[in-house]
Amino acid sequence: MTLRKIEQIIQALAVSEGAGVVVHRTLGTPGLRHLDPFLMLDHFASENPDDYIAGFPDHPHRGFITLTYMLDGHMLHQDSMGNRGDLRAGGIQWMKAASGVIHSEMPQQTNGLMRGFQLWINLPAAEKMSRPGYQEYPAARIPEVHAGGVHVKVISGEYASQRGPVDDPHTQILYLDVALAPNAEFSHALHGALSAFLYPFEGEIRIGERRVATHNLVVLGTGDQVALTAGERGARLILVAGRPLNEPIVQYGPFVMSTEKEIREAIDDYRNDRLVRAAARVGPA
Ligand code: CO
Repeated sequence: MTLRKIEQIIQALAVSEGAGVVVHRTLGTPGLRHLDPFLMLDHFASENPDDYIAGFPDHPHRGFITLTYMLDGHMLHQDSMGNRGDLRAGGIQWMKAASGVIHSEMPQQTNGLMRGFQLWINLPAAEKMSRPGYQEYPAARIPEVHAGGVHVKVISGEYASQRGPVDDPHTQILYLDVALAPNAEFSHALHGALSAFLYPFEGEIRIGERRVATHNLVVLGTGDQVALTAGERGARLILVAGRPLNEPIVQYGPFVMSTEKEIREAIDDYRNDRLVRAAARVGPA
């Protein structure tokens, strides 16, 4: 067994997105453009409604998947596939933008809190112009595993024989929400071929001799096991891994394609109201 060491630590940048929402971005910044197959990680966390209440009015995506995990508060959403709803605390939204989706995401607070993550996962070139797709799971559908001071919510992939509901056939995503009691130890086997990162969002963790606080993304190096310890006040983190696609990535804002030409087509399609394909306008039954 080879322990995965820290390869890089990316400190979050405060970025203004949508109609002026402040998010903490790590992946998708100059410090780390991509971690194949992952394109972006935004952590939204605020007790101040002014930071996010303007939300993300109608905006396009093409060429990848957005995976949103609400921790606190909730998010009203609506998209060009006909989905419309309210993603509640602990719930997951998986949206395969593929050939094109236009949607709005409007965060709402509950008891003053609004927290969550949005992860962008790339699609293989052959899937980028495929039909969009959508899955949503409430908190009750997320398996939870308690053992000693370790409490894991399995969003995607497998942990202690529990499988998360989100299934990505292209990149075999593992996505765990791990809560640790003070000084609790956590370890998990990770296939050596997977890209992997973790992101503490409460307390502090130790990996080897290194302490890592919240708002830092840890890129894990090669190996087949991740092991860490919570700090004196405990910790909570997400651990995410996925199979790299090893394909060219050309990104322009909300469009992530394989060539410059495809990006120009995406911009042109959006300007001419063709981003959303006719077949993709049909909502779920
Ligand atoms: Co969006």
